[in-house]
Amino acid sequence: MKVKDLEFREFISTQSVEEKVKALAAQVNTDYEDKAPLILPILNGSFIFASDLVKELTIPCKVSFVKVSSYNGVQSTGQLKTLIGLEESLFNQHILIVEDIVDTGLTLQKIMEELRGLGTKSVEVVALLRKKPAREKNVDVKYVGFDIDDEFVLGYGLDYDGFGRNTKQIYQLAN
Ligand code: IMP
Repeated sequence: MKVKDLEFREFISTQSVEEKVKALAAQVNTDYEDKAPLILPILNGSFIFASDLVKELTIPCKVSFVKVSSYNGVQSTGQLKTLIGLEESLFNQHILIVEDIVDTGLTLQKIMEELRGLGTKSVEVVALLRKKPAREKNVDVKYVGFDIDDEFVLGYGLDYDGFGRNTKQIYQLAN
Protein backbone atom coordinates (compact mmCIF):
# COMPACT_ATOMS: atom_id res chain seq x y z
CA MET A 1 0.00 0.00 0.00
CA LYS A 2 1.39 3.39 -0.93
CA VAL A 3 0.85 6.36 1.39
CA LYS A 4 2.25 9.62 0.05
CA ASP A 5 5.85 8.81 -0.95
CA LEU A 6 6.26 5.62 1.12
CA GLU A 7 5.41 1.96 0.53
CA PHE A 8 3.91 -0.05 3.40
CA ARG A 9 3.19 -3.79 3.78
CA GLU A 10 0.80 -5.60 6.11
CA PHE A 11 2.29 -6.23 9.53
CA ILE A 12 -0.57 -7.22 11.87
CA SER A 13 -3.73 -8.69 10.32
CA THR A 14 -7.28 -7.52 10.98
CA GLN A 15 -8.02 -10.77 12.81
CA SER A 16 -4.98 -10.47 15.09
CA VAL A 17 -5.90 -6.90 15.94
CA GLU A 18 -9.50 -7.90 16.72
CA GLU A 19 -8.41 -10.79 18.95
CA LYS A 20 -5.93 -8.63 20.81
CA VAL A 21 -8.47 -5.86 21.42
CA LYS A 22 -10.89 -8.42 22.88
CA ALA A 23 -8.18 -9.87 25.14
CA LEU A 24 -7.22 -6.41 26.40
CA ALA A 25 -10.87 -5.55 27.07
CA ALA A 26 -11.33 -8.80 29.00
CA GLN A 27 -8.44 -7.84 31.30
CA VAL A 28 -9.88 -4.36 31.82
CA ASN A 29 -13.33 -5.82 32.54
CA THR A 30 -11.82 -7.96 35.28
CA ASP A 31 -9.48 -5.38 36.82
CA TYR A 32 -11.98 -2.50 36.79
CA GLU A 33 -15.10 -4.45 37.73
CA ASP A 34 -16.11 -2.18 40.62
CA LYS A 35 -14.16 0.93 39.68
CA ALA A 36 -16.29 2.66 37.04
CA PRO A 37 -13.19 4.10 35.33
CA LEU A 38 -12.91 7.18 33.17
CA ILE A 39 -11.48 6.00 29.86
CA LEU A 40 -9.23 8.69 28.39
CA PRO A 41 -8.20 8.03 24.78
CA ILE A 42 -5.47 10.24 23.37
CA LEU A 43 -6.45 11.66 19.99
CA ASN A 44 -5.91 11.37 17.12
CA GLY A 45 -4.13 8.04 16.84
CA SER A 46 -6.21 6.06 19.35
CA PHE A 47 -9.66 6.82 17.97
CA ILE A 48 -10.16 3.46 16.25
CA PHE A 49 -8.54 1.36 18.97
CA ALA A 50 -10.48 3.18 21.70
CA SER A 51 -13.73 2.76 19.83
CA ASP A 52 -13.23 -0.99 19.35
CA LEU A 53 -11.98 -1.42 22.92
CA VAL A 54 -14.89 0.31 24.67
CA LYS A 55 -17.39 -1.72 22.64
CA GLU A 56 -15.96 -4.80 24.37
CA LEU A 57 -16.20 -3.30 27.86
CA THR A 58 -19.08 -4.58 29.96
CA ILE A 59 -18.26 -2.54 33.08
CA PRO A 60 -19.77 0.87 33.83
CA CYS A 61 -17.36 3.48 32.44
CA LYS A 62 -17.16 6.99 31.08
CA VAL A 63 -15.21 7.97 27.95
CA SER A 64 -13.60 11.36 27.33
CA PHE A 65 -11.17 12.14 24.50
CA VAL A 66 -8.12 14.34 25.02
CA LYS A 67 -5.40 15.49 22.69
CA VAL A 68 -1.63 15.88 22.66
CA SER A 69 0.86 15.60 19.83
CA SER A 70 4.62 15.22 19.47
CA TYR A 71 5.08 13.82 15.98
CA ASN A 72 5.83 15.39 12.64
CA GLY A 73 6.49 12.93 9.79
CA VAL A 74 8.26 9.68 10.75
CA GLN A 75 10.61 11.14 13.36
CA SER A 76 9.74 12.37 16.84
CA THR A 77 10.28 16.11 17.00
CA GLY A 78 11.00 15.89 20.71
CA GLN A 79 8.52 18.68 21.25
CA LEU A 80 5.84 18.13 23.86
CA LYS A 81 2.51 19.83 23.84
CA THR A 82 0.22 19.80 26.80
CA LEU A 83 -3.01 17.90 27.36
CA ILE A 84 -6.05 19.63 25.87
CA GLY A 85 -9.77 18.90 25.96
CA LEU A 86 -10.09 17.88 29.61
CA GLU A 87 -13.51 19.13 30.53
CA GLU A 88 -14.42 17.21 33.66
CA SER A 89 -12.90 16.88 37.11
CA LEU A 90 -10.62 13.90 37.43
CA PHE A 91 -10.54 14.11 41.20
CA ASN A 92 -11.08 10.68 42.84
CA GLN A 93 -11.45 9.00 39.45
CA HIS A 94 -9.80 5.81 38.20
CA ILE A 95 -8.25 6.90 34.90
CA LEU A 96 -7.43 4.50 32.09
CA ILE A 97 -5.47 6.21 29.31
CA VAL A 98 -5.85 4.66 25.85
CA GLU A 99 -2.83 5.06 23.55
CA ASP A 100 -2.34 3.79 20.02
CA ILE A 101 1.41 3.38 20.38
CA VAL A 102 4.07 4.14 22.97
CA ASP A 103 7.41 4.93 21.34
CA THR A 104 9.72 6.94 23.59
CA GLY A 105 6.96 7.25 26.16
CA LEU A 106 7.75 10.94 26.63
CA THR A 107 4.21 11.96 25.77
CA LEU A 108 2.75 9.41 28.11
CA GLN A 109 4.98 10.12 31.09
CA LYS A 110 4.14 13.79 30.89
CA ILE A 111 0.41 13.06 30.72
CA MET A 112 0.50 10.60 33.63
CA GLU A 113 2.40 13.11 35.74
CA GLU A 114 -0.20 15.76 34.93
CA LEU A 115 -3.11 13.45 35.77
CA ARG A 116 -1.62 12.16 39.01
CA GLY A 117 -1.28 15.77 40.12
CA LEU A 118 -5.05 16.22 39.85
CA GLY A 119 -5.99 13.98 42.80
CA THR A 120 -6.94 10.94 40.70
CA LYS A 121 -7.45 7.58 42.44
CA SER A 122 -5.36 5.70 39.89
CA VAL A 123 -3.81 6.31 36.47
CA GLU A 124 -3.02 3.37 34.18
CA VAL A 125 -2.41 2.93 30.47
CA VAL A 126 -3.63 0.53 27.82
CA ALA A 127 -1.58 0.75 24.60
CA LEU A 128 -2.16 -1.29 21.47
CA LEU A 129 1.51 -1.14 20.47
CA ARG A 130 4.74 -0.58 22.36
CA LYS A 131 8.13 0.08 20.76
CA LYS A 132 11.56 -0.83 22.06
CA PRO A 133 12.53 2.56 23.56
CA ALA A 134 9.52 2.44 25.92
CA ARG A 135 10.35 -1.14 26.96
CA GLU A 136 13.96 -0.25 27.65
CA LYS A 137 12.99 2.77 29.71
CA ASN A 138 10.34 0.80 31.62
CA VAL A 139 7.61 3.27 30.79
CA ASP A 140 4.66 2.43 33.02
CA VAL A 141 2.17 0.78 30.61
CA LYS A 142 -0.08 -1.73 32.38
CA TYR A 143 -1.78 -3.28 29.35
CA VAL A 144 0.16 -3.80 26.08
CA GLY A 145 -1.29 -5.30 22.89
CA PHE A 146 1.81 -5.92 20.78
CA ASP A 147 5.49 -5.35 21.54
CA ILE A 148 7.25 -4.33 18.33
CA ASP A 149 10.74 -3.26 17.23
CA ASP A 150 11.75 0.32 16.69
CA GLU A 151 10.03 0.69 13.31
CA PHE A 152 7.44 2.97 11.78
CA VAL A 153 3.92 1.56 11.63
CA LEU A 154 0.72 2.81 10.10
CA GLY A 155 -3.03 2.14 9.98
CA TYR A 156 -5.80 1.37 12.50
CA GLY A 157 -5.64 5.02 13.59
CA LEU A 158 -1.90 5.54 13.16
CA ASP A 159 -0.85 8.00 10.47
CA TYR A 160 1.98 9.11 8.26
CA ASP A 161 1.67 12.90 7.92
CA GLY A 162 -2.07 12.61 8.55
CA PHE A 163 -2.69 9.85 6.00
CA GLY A 164 -3.24 6.11 6.34
CA ARG A 165 -5.30 6.03 9.54
CA ASN A 166 -8.31 4.42 7.88
CA THR A 167 -7.43 0.72 7.80
CA LYS A 168 -8.48 -2.34 9.81
CA GLN A 169 -4.98 -3.83 9.85
CA ILE A 170 -1.60 -2.41 10.83
CA TYR A 171 1.17 -1.79 8.28
CA GLN A 172 4.95 -1.33 8.47
CA LEU A 173 7.39 0.40 6.15
CA ALA A 174 8.22 -1.89 3.22
CA ASN A 175 11.94 -1.02 3.20
P1 IMP B 1 6.15 8.98 22.12
O1 IMP B 1 5.94 10.21 22.93
O2 IMP B 1 7.53 8.95 21.49
O3 IMP B 1 5.88 7.70 22.88
O4 IMP B 1 5.15 9.07 20.88
C1 IMP B 1 3.85 8.64 20.96
C2 IMP B 1 2.99 9.13 19.81
O5 IMP B 1 3.74 9.26 18.60
C3 IMP B 1 1.91 8.12 19.47
O6 IMP B 1 0.73 8.35 20.20
C4 IMP B 1 1.72 8.29 17.98
O7 IMP B 1 0.76 9.28 17.72
C5 IMP B 1 3.07 8.74 17.48
N1 IMP B 1 3.85 7.61 16.93
C6 IMP B 1 4.87 6.96 17.53
N2 IMP B 1 5.34 5.96 16.75
C7 IMP B 1 4.57 5.97 15.63
C8 IMP B 1 4.55 5.14 14.44
O8 IMP B 1 5.33 4.19 14.25
N3 IMP B 1 3.59 5.45 13.52
C9 IMP B 1 2.71 6.48 13.68
N4 IMP B 1 2.70 7.27 14.76
C10 IMP B 1 3.62 7.02 15.73
